[in-house]
Amino acid sequence: MFTIKENWKKADTEEALLVGLWADYKKLEGIPAELDKAFNGHITQLLREGDILTHAKSVTKVHTFGIVGAKRIYFIGLGRRNEAKYETMREAFGRAVGQLTREKREKAAIVMETFENERIAPERLAHALAEAVTAASYAFENYKERTNERDKKLTEIRVYSSDSRTGNGLSTGYAFGTGINTARNLINTPGNLMTPTDLAQAAMGIARKYRMDYEILEREDMERLGMGALLAVSQGSEEPPKLITVKYKGRDTWNHVLALVGKGLTFDSGGYSIKPASNMHEMKSDMGGSAAVLGAMEIVGQLKPQTNILFVIPSSENLINGKAMKPGDVFTSLSGKTIEVRNTDAEGRLILADAISYAKEMGANYLVDVATLTGGVVVALGDTTTGAVTNNEAFFEQVKASADHEGEYLWQLPSHPHFKEMLRSSDVADLNNSTGRLGHAITGGLFVGEFAGETPWVHLDIAGTAYSSKPSALGPKGATGVMVRTLAGLAMSFQDKE
Ligand code: BES
Ligand code: MN
Ligand code: ZN
Repeated sequence: MFTIKENWKKADTEEALLVGLWADYKKLEGIPAELDKAFNGHITQLLREGDILTHAKSVTKVHTFGIVGAKRIYFIGLGRRNEAKYETMREAFGRAVGQLTREKREKAAIVMETFENERIAPERLAHALAEAVTAASYAFENYKERTNERDKKLTEIRVYSSDSRTGNGLSTGYAFGTGINTARNLINTPGNLMTPTDLAQAAMGIARKYRMDYEILEREDMERLGMGALLAVSQGSEEPPKLITVKYKGRDTWNHVLALVGKGLTFDSGGYSIKPASNMHEMKSDMGGSAAVLGAMEIVGQLKPQTNILFVIPSSENLINGKAMKPGDVFTSLSGKTIEVRNTDAEGRLILADAISYAKEMGANYLVDVATLTGGVVVALGDTTTGAVTNNEAFFEQVKASADHEGEYLWQLPSHPHFKEMLRSSDVADLNNSTGRLGHAITGGLFVGEFAGETPWVHLDIAGTAYSSKPSALGPKGATGVMVRTLAGLAMSFQDKE
């Protein structure tokens, strides 16, 4: 997809040449100035008259009429140079790709020097470009008679750069983009085509591709081990549940293990505490946590960090039949703790409970769970910010640092002891799975935390951020692939730790 070239002036046969423009220049300098000269000062004039824009999020196309080699120049507005951020650069690249895709261009070239600045290292800039191009050109192939598969796609980008770190940045950025798109594909697939069995197949496919060891626990295994919470959710469905674990061994010994645990609920009807019909179809996205974990796994497979990672996915449907769990039922989890199911729609925390206990049995020293867990987090933080709950501030800071580095929004919710007490409100069991509306994004997270115990743990509630009703600069509406980058970035940062 990317080829690196040195001399942009030899960009003679390009269909589209991308050039960055800062908003706060006084007089054009460098490459834009050279172009201006070739155009007899017309670029300056167009800028002055507002025909070429420089503010962030703008893209202006200018035809070259053969004056330079490229047929068209796309000026990418970058805003103020001293405000340049990784995310805004990535978004600028994403918008440029959006425009090229709409115009059905198959090839483009980019002059990296015009995007370089003091605030973002060249390697990181190349990473932003490759990640944005890969993510922004994503489309989910639909099932219509006339499919939306594009006959013309952006498949070739020439990157004009003389910096030796550009190549590295492009390949890590491409890995990140691929991981994001892997997650999106899994989430966008309809529930009947993405059952727990299908999800396990997908996980095995990725594990085999990167030669990682995997294990799939079947219903009988769960019965033998005593995974009563995961089994409770699955008993209302004909589709067999799966507990998927994949081991990535990046150290000589299996210690210092980071476990990434993702909710893999392939369809959530709510069970007997049934959901309203209107938006129920969106509940095919209730395996968004597992998709984020698998997206990160794809990146880990490509970048091979020197650290140990355990990927864990409990997967089930939450449906209704004559055997389904009922409000008031009590189950014994793998940890031995008993749970009263007050609400069958609070099923994510049940399957995560056993997955977290199992991750600890498999040697996890650090736990991150990712889940489309509560409607409460959507009300509290909206559709761009993921909510977090933790039992360990230092570990949370590490996860937060990764989110910040990757340009994903994350916000920690409070977890005062009072919220934990709320979970102990069952008359018949250790824990109540649903304590009502009050602070339920927090109580939902803390329920999962009960099973993490003393092990450092961070919970990421992506109910608001995993699935979007509107397109963004980095992708279409539907699955966003949120938290893939944060998890992968965290995995990469773990290799430096003792
Ligand atoms: N999968 C849902 C949460 C959800 C809501 C995801 C909206 C994406 C968008 C989860 O299983 C659920 O139903 N949560 C309940 C919990 C309640 C019964 C305690 C909720 O949030 O209403
Ligand atoms: Mn539910
Ligand atoms: Zn759910």
